Amino acid sequence: MSNDVDTVRGILRQARSIAVLTGAGVSAESGVPTFRDPDGLWAKFSPQELASMEGFLANPERVREWYAHRRSIATSVEPNAGHYALAELERTHEGTFTLITQNVDRLHQRAGSRNVLEVHGNLIENRCNDCGHIRTDDRLDCVECLGPMRPNVVWFGEELPQDVFAAAEQAARGCDIMFVIGTSAEVWPAAGLAYTAKQYGATIVEVNPNPTVFSREAHHVLVGTSASVLPQLIGVAS
Ligand code: OAD
Repeated sequence: MSNDVDTVRGILRQARSIAVLTGAGVSAESGVPTFRDPDGLWAKFSPQELASMEGFLANPERVREWYAHRRSIATSVEPNAGHYALAELERTHEGTFTLITQNVDRLHQRAGSRNVLEVHGNLIENRCNDCGHIRTDDRLDCVECLGPMRPNVVWFGEELPQDVFAAAEQAARGCDIMFVIGTSAEVWPAAGLAYTAKQYGATIVEVNPNPTVFSREAHHVLVGTSASVLPQLIGVAS
């Protein structure tokens, strides 16, 4: 295992196909809270109440309010140097780069990333719980079928969007380097993408200031925050 940014930069230069899996840590330096850090969302709130169908059915107002609050945080902060570095990597590797994110805050897109596979949905849209119709306004009932509108995010116990996840799996199988950045790698099936990439022969690089359950699987661990490590790695000014 190596911790050397220069070594990884050399491997990146040789790579024909790059995949990146990001998690909440990538947005931490923008001011968006993570989930499992000591001050994370799941230390203060109950995922059963706020991120499950049972919780939504029991108290839809509370759930909608919580997501509206998270949306207002996401839309009022700015992408950070880590997001911008990944957008730059896409620009320089057009067609051979896939960004897979578990984040729902849209900060990658606001930094200029164009093809983002959002495996956990996003906070900006609402979706009809009955017919799947998507809107970006605050209507409570679906205009198509009058079903209840809910945040277009994946809750515990729910399937990931199939086409998006299939594209993510394809990228994981086909890449020769995968960066696993700012994620605890504890939530499946998203975390499984990193294991899949390794199984299919990719070099795995973790970027995280803290060890994770996945760290020992990685070939290289760059210890540091994404806003500090990624610009060094990708060679853009922070
Ligand atoms: P977690 O909160 O589980 O993990 C955040 C990770 O980011 C941790 O490993 C931290 O060490 C790391 N971290 C913190 N600050 C960082 C920084 N500045 N730079 C880089 N890394 C940093 O978040 P996720 O792994 O994204 O699911 O969580 C996965 C899923 O669990 C989320 O998508 C969400 C949640 O329940 C849904 O909402 C469906």
